[in-house]
Amino acid sequence: MLSTRPVGVDNSGRKYLPAAASASESRSPNQELMPLTARVNRADHLEIGGCDVTVLVERFGSPLYIVDEETLRTACRQYREALSRYYPGQWQVIYASKAWSCLAICAVAAQEGLGIDVVSGGELHTALTAGASPESIYLHGNNKSREELQLAIETGCTVVADNWLDLLTIADISKKARQPVRLMLRFTPGIECHTHEYIRTGHLDSKFGFDPDWADEVFSFVSQHPALSCTGLHAHIGSQIFELQPHEDLAGVLVHWLKKAAQYGLPVRELNVGGGLGIRYTESDDPPSIDAWVKTVCVSIAGALGSEGLPLPKLLCEPGRSIVGPACVTAYTAGSQKAIPGIRTYLSVDGGMSDNPRPITYQAVYRAVVANRMGDPLTEKVTVAGKHCESGDILIQEAELPKTEPGDILVVPGTGAYNYSMASNYNRLPRPAAVLVRDGEANVILQRETYQDLLRLDRLPARLIPESGITPPLPQE
Ligand code: LLP
Repeated sequence: MLSTRPVGVDNSGRKYLPAAASASESRSPNQELMPLTARVNRADHLEIGGCDVTVLVERFGSPLYIVDEETLRTACRQYREALSRYYPGQWQVIYASKAWSCLAICAVAAQEGLGIDVVSGGELHTALTAGASPESIYLHGNNKSREELQLAIETGCTVVADNWLDLLTIADISKKARQPVRLMLRFTPGIECHTHEYIRTGHLDSKFGFDPDWADEVFSFVSQHPALSCTGLHAHIGSQIFELQPHEDLAGVLVHWLKKAAQYGLPVRELNVGGGLGIRYTESDDPPSIDAWVKTVCVSIAGALGSEGLPLPKLLCEPGRSIVGPACVTAYTAGSQKAIPGIRTYLSVDGGMSDNPRPITYQAVYRAVVANRMGDPLTEKVTVAGKHCESGDILIQEAELPKTEPGDILVVPGTGAYNYSMASNYNRLPRPAAVLVRDGEANVILQRETYQDLLRLDRLPARLIPESGITPPLPQE
């Protein structure tokens, strides 16, 4: 392992790496473009978690998700420390595992004392297998199946009811199983915020949560079902939000509902404000720190309750992106280039919309560096394209890069949230491996899919099996 020199002092990496190597605990990971341990080593290579990124790619293949454990743990701790600093009552941080649900990431979150928010049986199974305690797991979703609800209730998780069908099914399961259910009620808060339309959930025209106009009927229904123990209320505004005002507004709305619930004899012991804190994908992104976000949430909730003379319930928040997003980079290998004079140069990499569907889905903007040329000047403007059979498969419209050659390692930061979790096998590309790096060690946390994995679920009706047979033999229908 090559020893490192201070980050980004006199090389092009300084654009993306912090100018001074400040203590990582004091930097809010969501405000950085790179994981906290990113360094440039003596060979002018990018290093993360003490591992040279080019060596990681040689060892584990390309594309490769590289997750920095220190950044992940620092984000978890900053949420917890800020809550203990600013909220005078009880609290719980819950990792929204939709951002990246896999055993290792859920295990780190659980080890750091976070609960886990899940939205499907699959995420629930993952969280339980990773060792999260059921009391700290919350099942969400606007169309949960009976089986999913049953699994959550049988294992002792809290269920967040989103609609009438949820309530009816939960009441039925709990009656038949003679098992009380810990229940939260999710309402649509009717709060506007500036983020992509697809990831806004708080405005009234949303598929999530009860419409607030139904609050009386909902509270009345729950109060008449003794098996339903309503522990709290939930609202989530949206995702990748840089403003603090919507979270301040949410406090007033939640406290208004809490008072209403009390009129129906439902003591609200928990308030869940959802997640939503944005992260820095480009130089122009300027999200508030984890500390500032938590402070706003705590001060406004405690303030709204205090002015009504109400006791403090347990405060829950469920960040996803700001926990795992900044901790991961994706390393790709550069391949073909196509220069169209006067128009643009396409630089293609060996992944694309299958490992990062966010640019094509939300027009998300990313940056890139070249891991093996961190000292080279940024002389080129190129369009970084994926390898999929789709013109829209563009990862970065305009990337400022050094002159690159096939085989160079392009690194896109900020890919921990909603990348692997939304990855696909489009064009039958195997999903990449993911490694967790820390202190110069790297461990595989998700294996790279093989061609055989791609055929795992394929079945060939007997009449379609070629006379020459298939090697290796496939299971038949
Ligand atoms: N709680 C609830 C109820 C949510 O719906 C979400 C995100 C979160 C918490 C976590 O929000 P975060 O802290 O990650 O912003 N695929 C989209 C994002 C979808 C967000 C869905 N809900 C993207 O790639 O931008």
